[in-house]
Amino acid sequence: MPHFFLRYSFCSPRWFLRAFATQRPWQAIGQVVLLGMLIGLASCGPSAKTEDKTAATTAAKLAATTSTAKKPDWWKETIVYQLYPRSFQDSNGDGVGDLKGITSRLDYLQRLGVGTVWLNPIYASPNDDNGYDISDYRQIMPEFGTIADFDALLAGMHQRGLKLVMDLVVNHSSDEHAWFKAARSSRTSPYRDYYYWWPAEKGTPPARYSTFDVKKNAWQYDSLTKSYYLHYFSKKQPDLNWNNPKLRQEVYRIMRFWADKGIDGFRMDAFQFVAKDPSFPPMAGLNEQNFANAYNHGPHLHDYLKELNREVLSKYNLMTVAEGAGRNPQEAMLFVDPARKELDMTYHFEGVGVGSGADTYKLNDLKQVFTKWDRAFAQKGWQAIDLGNHDQPRMVSKFGDDRPAFRAASAKLLNTFLLTMRGTPYCYNGDELGMTNSKFAGIADYRDVAARNGYALVQQQGGDIPAFMHGLARFGRDNSRTPFQWNGTANAGFTTGTPWLSVNPNYVAINEAAQAKDSSSVLNHFRRATALRQQRNVLVYGQYTLLDAANPHIWAYTRTLGGERVLVVLNFSSEPRRWVVPAELKPTGEPWLNNYPTLAPGPALALQPWQAVVLLLQ
Ligand code: NOJ
Repeated sequence: MPHFFLRYSFCSPRWFLRAFATQRPWQAIGQVVLLGMLIGLASCGPSAKTEDKTAATTAAKLAATTSTAKKPDWWKETIVYQLYPRSFQDSNGDGVGDLKGITSRLDYLQRLGVGTVWLNPIYASPNDDNGYDISDYRQIMPEFGTIADFDALLAGMHQRGLKLVMDLVVNHSSDEHAWFKAARSSRTSPYRDYYYWWPAEKGTPPARYSTFDVKKNAWQYDSLTKSYYLHYFSKKQPDLNWNNPKLRQEVYRIMRFWADKGIDGFRMDAFQFVAKDPSFPPMAGLNEQNFANAYNHGPHLHDYLKELNREVLSKYNLMTVAEGAGRNPQEAMLFVDPARKELDMTYHFEGVGVGSGADTYKLNDLKQVFTKWDRAFAQKGWQAIDLGNHDQPRMVSKFGDDRPAFRAASAKLLNTFLLTMRGTPYCYNGDELGMTNSKFAGIADYRDVAARNGYALVQQQGGDIPAFMHGLARFGRDNSRTPFQWNGTANAGFTTGTPWLSVNPNYVAINEAAQAKDSSSVLNHFRRATALRQQRNVLVYGQYTLLDAANPHIWAYTRTLGGERVLVVLNFSSEPRRWVVPAELKPTGEPWLNNYPTLAPGPALALQPWQAVVLLLQ
């Protein structure tokens, strides 16, 4: 990372540009790195009895979804829960989360009311980039368990009506993959062309930027065959050569292997980068700010996707989601226009990119981005809705207010947003509790390759370390990777050993066990919101209309489907605010969802700090 997330940030945070304009690049770099049944009961928590009913109804609906698994668009109606296996639940005391740990928590996942779990990579890996460097695509990382553990996990999920999506990382492999070992052994190896090489006798290769490399150079010299190999990410993540049909067939076989096991989909990592011109023409002015755009959409990208669809996807009922596809909505549509037969949905980085590199963000920027993308997908295609993931800071720390007085209300508001927008919600584990960014004492506490290598670079260049550390504290990826906070016992109940990454000290106050007992908790609000979405198709498919676009504090919108129309009003501020409901909109009845116990009736809503309400309109 450091700059990882700028890599995917297609907006241009003014702060970042200013930093680059006024400082030497390394200074800016150092700073930047661094991002129904519910009617009436929503306002105050449901009684235990009501909650049981809610859970039972949700479970019934989930079961129904499973029985209609052949329905092509199940993935539009599901709610995705992104689970970071390394940090979820350790079952054997080695300090690392594992598959048996996840299996032990399946009832929790089911009670959340989510329908699909996306697992970050669990394959064999030397873990240079926490599993995004795969050394064997058909094996489980030993720290995570075995194939038998995987089979048990998948069966347990399916029994509960939960679907499983795997991460597919095929822009690159690990340098410890057998393919790469063979490829680097000789220029005549049959695996040589699985990767990109530049023979030293041709001179220095044309400049290519690497986001995780200590020197930011995507070419690594390998003395064994006197050649450079390409790696857009760390030098332990050599790029796979998609121009080679044999490599593509290997990938399709891997996909079939998992599909035949019965998984339900793939999240396609960095797929927008896979296509490359093997002659490596010069890319003038390639740098930190523009490399993601420069690498995006190389030649034949959509030919590969069509082939992948024909060879694998068309034969299974799999959901596919492309990470960061496209530099703009029009390009992203090329991935997911159903007529093109490529992928199902895409998630963009513009939303999570708002405010990146800065200490604050403007609500109107966020509204504008989500509204623009919604418009582009209003007639066809489908997108994911997210505000955080394992590459981003905690959403409540970035888009909410994580101070104790506002943390819970703002986390509930953000979850209300995710679960009332059009598109499939992607909820990142821990956000249902309102987990926050952590406090790391120094660089030794960070584990992320992007943080470590970014630090080394700034250090080598005599850069501004305090500024770098400030950025890391706000935007470093380890913030969202700390262990899941299950309870108030040692290590938050995540492990009996020493956690691989320190637990956020606030686990004593913020944890699942405490929230499960509290009907007004972030967790129980999340459950009410998932149950509501499961029951109301208007929240899935309804047309989205932005209201009061210029209001800097309130995000208000309607969702309309057939005769049903709902109003969502979100006070994105730590102050009380009034918001006048437009005269033509007539709320009726109690709020479907409210993150405060009350809502004063009347045409002007008196909203509490971070209050979020969902109202049915006449
Ligand atoms: C995107 C993943 O989300 C990120 O965690 C990873 O470092 C890069 N792709 C490289 O695989």
